[in-house]
Amino acid sequence: MKLSVVVLISGSGSNLQAIIDAAANSGSYKVSGVISNRRGAFGFERAQRANIATALIEHQQFPDRETFDKELARQIDAWGADLVVLAGFMRILTDQFVNRYAGRLINIHPSLLPKFKGLDTHARAIAAGEAEHGCTVHFVSAELDAGAPIIQAATPIHSDDKVETLQQRVHQLEHCIYPIAVEWFCSGRLQERDGLAYLDAEPLGASGQRYEG
Ligand code: GRF
Repeated sequence: MKLSVVVLISGSGSNLQAIIDAAANSGSYKVSGVISNRRGAFGFERAQRANIATALIEHQQFPDRETFDKELARQIDAWGADLVVLAGFMRILTDQFVNRYAGRLINIHPSLLPKFKGLDTHARAIAAGEAEHGCTVHFVSAELDAGAPIIQAATPIHSDDKVETLQQRVHQLEHCIYPIAVEWFCSGRLQERDGLAYLDAEPLGASGQRYEG
């Protein structure tokens, strides 16, 4: 029996695409629905092309974060989600939402966490003179970009790198590591307990597993 994965997006959905493509070769999960909070998100076309159900839930239609998140949860539960995947979903979620899906809610962040939480990570990594930059898939906790890391991939920062060139390379790496994390979870290899991630019952360190390509 395949697990049900629901993906939340706000935009292009290239990570969603990587997960859809990997699902075709996976015996452990299927993408059962995609939610966007933004009308016109290109990720919806990707989902529809793959015959995946979509739901547009626009945050502006709700009086506050609580009622918006309740509607998200209603749809996620209606699709019977075992795993909720945030893939470029540009809304901060309430603690109630995060707690409801604790241990089965994951996100991808474009930095080598715990470095560069928040926005504009590529520009900040270049400005800080970092030797490398990358991305991290992590369990979501109530504190922003602070949940247990699962897997991380890095690329060197070159002296002639611009935000765009670095962002492009990191984006490629995102597409490699996100499907791996989803597969680990859905095949029963990955769990979260007390704020720590475990792979095959072994605790993953402070940065998660390092992806070596
Ligand atoms: C990615 O850069 C991801 O790290 C960030 O949002 C972006 C989503 O890109 N959280 P896409 O919509 O998957 O192409």
